[in-house]
Amino acid sequence: MKDNAIMKTPTIHVCLFPAAGYGTRFLPATKAMPKEMLPILTKPLIQYGVEEAMEAGMDTMAIITGRGKRAIADHFDVSYELEHEIKGSVKEKMLADIRHIIDNVTFTYTRQIEMKGLGHAILTGRALTGYQPFAVVLADDMCVNEDEGVLSQMVKLYETYRCSIVAIEEVNPDETDKYGVIAGEEIAEGIYRVTTMVEKPSPSDAPSNLAIIGRYILTPDIYDILQTTKPGKNGEIQITDALMEQARGGNVIAYKFRGKRYDCGSVDGYVQATVELYEKAKRS
Ligand code: UTP
Repeated sequence: MKDNAIMKTPTIHVCLFPAAGYGTRFLPATKAMPKEMLPILTKPLIQYGVEEAMEAGMDTMAIITGRGKRAIADHFDVSYELEHEIKGSVKEKMLADIRHIIDNVTFTYTRQIEMKGLGHAILTGRALTGYQPFAVVLADDMCVNEDEGVLSQMVKLYETYRCSIVAIEEVNPDETDKYGVIAGEEIAEGIYRVTTMVEKPSPSDAPSNLAIIGRYILTPDIYDILQTTKPGKNGEIQITDALMEQARGGNVIAYKFRGKRYDCGSVDGYVQATVELYEKAKRS
């Protein structure tokens, strides 16, 4: 048996994809189409996220959808008519990746009826994840790394620390008001025990320039906390506020991941990801 064929039981099985937001920065493209279905080259953003979760050993993708998001469920379903149409042609291989996903992963869905913020979207996911640790991917934050995906790096860290983990990166100090920002004690290189978290602080109020990006591993007690979390910044139920509650008990680790993140929820980040992935594809 080859080494890589010896499968360890994964510690995190379920990945939650909050995908109910309106995607207003991409209007009018997102008027009738989910932001998560915007393509980078030929794959929609959410497919990159699902592939990252699969690489990290997860086999259940739990998607929080909303009105106008049906295309996501259709994408992760077989299209018999289309497959029949291209069978035997050179185009058949273009569906190989998505077919591999469909054959190996279970998708579950629920709708967030009112868009009350990311924390609320995650709380809506409880029915899908059950009361166990789970990962969260915000598909519009696209992460790439040659040797190991960001979620896979985070699962390893979870196995050591057994608490909630947030992925962070250093951002321009002028841009802290776009992110949840942390401060903490660096306990190993690039690994922080979080002591403070603030949602979208102005640069003058920011505790650092270490910003949370769209990758989390959350322990299930986050659900108990979210149930009583009051609306915070912009009147939304913020995951950062709930995480701060865990951080008070020393139970949140922030991790400077290896790799590159593109903010594909913004036009600039989306174009940058498209150009850089295109250049890379041309070279290989
Ligand atoms: P964003 O604020 O980046 O996404 O939320 P948005 O609201 O869709 O986009 P803009 O700002 O209007 O352009 C971060 C993530 O949280 C999800 C979004 O789908 C996105 O993946 N989200 C946010 C929900 O699922 N529900 C919410 O109520 C809010």
